[in-house]
Amino acid sequence: MRDIIINQPLDMHLHLRDNDMLKLVAPFSAKSFSGGLIMPNLSTPITNKQMLMSYKNRVLEAIDGNNFEPYMTLFYQNYDTKFLKDIQNDITAIKLYPAGITTNSKQGVSNFDIKELEPTLSVMSELDIPLCVHGETDGFVMDRESQFMDIYEQLATNFPKLNIIMEHITTKDATKIVQKYDNLYATITAHHLLITLDDVAGGFLDPHLFCKPIAKRYEDKEALVKLATSGNKKVMFGSDSAPHPTHKKECCGCAAGVFTAPIALQLLCELFIKDEQNINLQEQNLQKFLSSNAVDIYGLTPPNKTITLREKNYKVAVDYKNTTHTITPMYGGKTIKWSII
Ligand code: NCD
Ligand code: ZN
Repeated sequence: MRDIIINQPLDMHLHLRDNDMLKLVAPFSAKSFSGGLIMPNLSTPITNKQMLMSYKNRVLEAIDGNNFEPYMTLFYQNYDTKFLKDIQNDITAIKLYPAGITTNSKQGVSNFDIKELEPTLSVMSELDIPLCVHGETDGFVMDRESQFMDIYEQLATNFPKLNIIMEHITTKDATKIVQKYDNLYATITAHHLLITLDDVAGGFLDPHLFCKPIAKRYEDKEALVKLATSGNKKVMFGSDSAPHPTHKKECCGCAAGVFTAPIALQLLCELFIKDEQNINLQEQNLQKFLSSNAVDIYGLTPPNKTITLREKNYKVAVDYKNTTHTITPMYGGKTIKWSII
């Protein structure tokens, strides 16, 4: 039985939701991670300081004394210098959503003209506020991310001092572009390292694996695995754990999002720790993907926390409930190969 220890694991793309859902899901992330980048797409997106601070307090309350730092984000809109200077120290990044592309993104950006974005992005660049981007067009679902690569390249070249994070990349194209520009970085989820469209819709439809961006082809998954497991400094873990109530997943009009918070770390161990001969290197690369790369990219000082994982079967719960909500995790009811001890 092998044990591995991860220091200060970070989840740099996390949906914790609000109210009773927040109370149900936050402890899972707080148990596995030292901190997380908290997404701002609540049903009313976070667009001002008062909303941000009160949401942060609700998050801190929900993690209930667990040593977990919520790195807060703001929902991208046109913001002026005064506003950004005033909120700068309370946020870790600003998250840009194309309008209507995913859950609670109606108020996102519909015009990607550089001229339109310039006033806000140039101030963010000056103030060193990173821009996180949900990079999808409204084109054919399998091509949406690839079609967005032009926009990433325009952003990267027009704002060379702005740190831009390509969120939850899913394609071989994205693995290339992220390495082409110094100011581009990326997060990768656990599920996109493990599944393809075949797992979502190749047999019986699995709504619990349906998310935006949709899982792609085998060659895309292979390119993602290669990049993530190589220790490359441009990529970091972001679970995109995105819970929706089970009845909103198992229905017609299934909501997009995969809930992975309780098993993400264990799944990454299974993926990275493969071959006996290279255990040290594999552990080092896992540590980079899960923590040090994000620490360097964002300049973070996460709370001290070490998580020990054991190569020991773990039966994933069929669902998790409180009095208000039931949610179904990825691989609910299945057995995975690593446990947190
Ligand atoms: C996310 C959600 O539900 O908030 N859904 C998803 O499929 N990933 C939003 C997002 O990150 O796209
Ligand atoms: Zn997300």
